[in-house]
Parts: sequence; C-alpha cells; structure tokens
Amino acid sequence: MTMSDSVVILISGRGSNLQAILESGVGNRVAAVISDNPGAAGLNVAAKHGKPTHVIPRRGQTKEAFEDALSECIEQYNPALIALAGFMTVVSGAFIARHQGYIVNIHPSLLPALRGLETHKRALAAGVPQHGCSVHWVTESVDAGDVIARQAVRVENTDDEEALAARVLEAEHRLYPATISRLLNQRKWRD
Ligand code: GRF
Repeated sequence: MTMSDSVVILISGRGSNLQAILESGVGNRVAAVISDNPGAAGLNVAAKHGKPTHVIPRRGQTKEAFEDALSECIEQYNPALIALAGFMTVVSGAFIARHQGYIVNIHPSLLPALRGLETHKRALAAGVPQHGCSVHWVTESVDAGDVIARQAVRVENTDDEEALAARVLEAEHRLYPATISRLLNQRKWRD
C-alpha cells in the first residue's frame, strides 16, 4: 500500500460505519482515524484494529483553528480519500477547498430526499415506501453534494423509528465499505 491509496476516516461517535470499513476488504487502506470528540467510542474500535488515532477537539478553539489542526493532521497521511463516518462538525468552505474533490460522507436517506437530521422519523412521517442511505461528495451545502451510491431499504408497515434505523444502518455497513473500495480502486477523480 502506498499512502496515496489510503483513506482517513473522521468520526464523532459510536463508529459502527468505521467498524464495518475496518472489517471489510478495504480496512487495510485506512491510514488513520480522527475524532473531534474525545469520548467517541469509535476511537476504541480504531485502536482495536491497530490504527493510529487522533483527537482534535472542536470545543475550546475557533472553527478556523480547529480546521487548520484537522487539515494538518489529515495531510500527514496524504490520503486519496477523506471519509466522514458520523462526523458531526459541519466543515467550512475553506476546509472543503483545501481538500477539494476527495471528501465523502454517508447519510441515512436516499438523497436528495431528507437532507439533515432525524431522517428515519421524517421518512416514517412522510409514509414513503422506501428509505435508505447514500454516499455523496461533501460540498458546502450540507448533504447536497453529488451522490456516488445509494442503497434502498423497504419501509415496513410495522416499522418504528428504531427498527427502520437499524435496517438502514445495516445497509450503510454494506454500502460504505464497498463504495470506498470502488473509489480507491478507480482513483480517477484525483491526480
Ligand atoms: C450514521 O447513521 C451515518 O449515516 C450518519 O451518522 C451515523 C453514524 O453512525 N452520518 P456510526 O458512528 O457510524 O455508528
């Protein structure tokens, strides 16, 4: 593996997508895991897989200082891809410009439907027959970048928010590793 085949994962919390990535065939391409939250459970997941971890707290510093530190930390790994996996800080245009064209995110809806939070609750309230998850490029508008891949799940009559969220999360755990693998193998978007 050369470093330019690698991905750096950014997390804030539980890290189940991170775990799915680490347990997949593309796990050996994960160069490092960075959290903006010192208490993120995903940091333990990364450490168990022997991956370097870094904590850059969002709290206690300006957004600019935070993003500078984050960028410097990422750049030491020279990754081909930055993958947000439950990373809860909305990054600025300056951050996106610095890493133009190689930041991806996973979102729990069939984008462009249901951008933002509480997607499962809103899917049930809307009575849609299908829900799911999407991997998309990160741009300045939250959850609005071009969609790279989507996976649909059926909404059952018996679903409550928890049941639907669990089914979508399973789909995320298949979609995200497969999509990251495909992108790293293609690598056409970045010279
Ligand atoms: C996932 O539902 C993901 O789609 C969203 O945040 C959640 C992160 O979960 N962006 P986890 O930390 O990967 O378990």
